[in-house]
Amino acid sequence: MKYILILAGLFLLALLCFYIYRECIRIDVTEYTLTSSLLKKDTFRIVMLSDLHETVHGKDNEEVLERIDGLAPDIVIFAGDMITASDFHPLNYDAALSLIGRIAEKYPLYYGIGNHEEKLKRPPFRHIKNWEYYTGELAKLKVSILQNEKVFLPEAGICIYGLDLEYQYYRKIKDYPIPDGYLEEKLGKADSSSYTILLAHLPDQLSAYAKWGPDLVLSGHVHGGVIRLPFLGGVISPQLKLFPHFDSGLFYEGKTTMILSRGIGTHTIPLRINNSAEIVSITLKREE
Ligand SMILES: [Fe+2]
Repeated sequence: MKYILILAGLFLLALLCFYIYRECIRIDVTEYTLTSSLLKKDTFRIVMLSDLHETVHGKDNEEVLERIDGLAPDIVIFAGDMITASDFHPLNYDAALSLIGRIAEKYPLYYGIGNHEEKLKRPPFRHIKNWEYYTGELAKLKVSILQNEKVFLPEAGICIYGLDLEYQYYRKIKDYPIPDGYLEEKLGKADSSSYTILLAHLPDQLSAYAKWGPDLVLSGHVHGGVIRLPFLGGVISPQLKLFPHFDSGLFYEGKTTMILSRGIGTHTIPLRINNSAEIVSITLKREE
């Protein structure tokens, strides 16, 4: 009897491991449609990836590329953490650079900074020398990270801003609210004559983002809360908040809509339960 129970336990454990593995590699596409009278094109499609964390889906992320191609985007946006900078993880940019290079060959690509990219450049952190290497490799691919910069797409009437949020706002357990005027100081005034998109990796600061006034915020970081429970949503955030309010999906504040991606990768502990990797497709439609 004892051996039967041990075998049954091992079988269940193997099933659980297989399920977690499937969740880590399964990619879902989540589609959103938003409208605005500020757009100059009738339809404009954005594909957003966040939190790749050097993950490779299948052979050299071919599946990710195929899914992007299938959506036929006008542009691709990264909402941060395409690489991982961790004391527990050897630095390796190959997966991110390989995917970025192949996406950039086909589509205009706009890269917002996450806390892991920010960590690469922060003295005296040990990864400081890697910032120059990583951004140098990106430059060879003709891709740059938007660090408190904007890009205007005149044919679409869209202005994309990339917020470089300092490390102190990512600290754990407590909230560290962005002070009034922070975004204006970093980015200038939001362009009210265009459809404005803010790339802001940390979703928790939505109220500060909304005060600045973007139409759309694109965010990541939370990985969907790692484990998603029915009715309760994501279980834990990187800030170690249990059942975080900002876990995934759509959020609204004033005139601002935020789309929070569950991310497409994992790092340190490869765990996703009821929380598949995600590619986000956003169709913007001009309303008269
Ligand atoms: Fe992050």
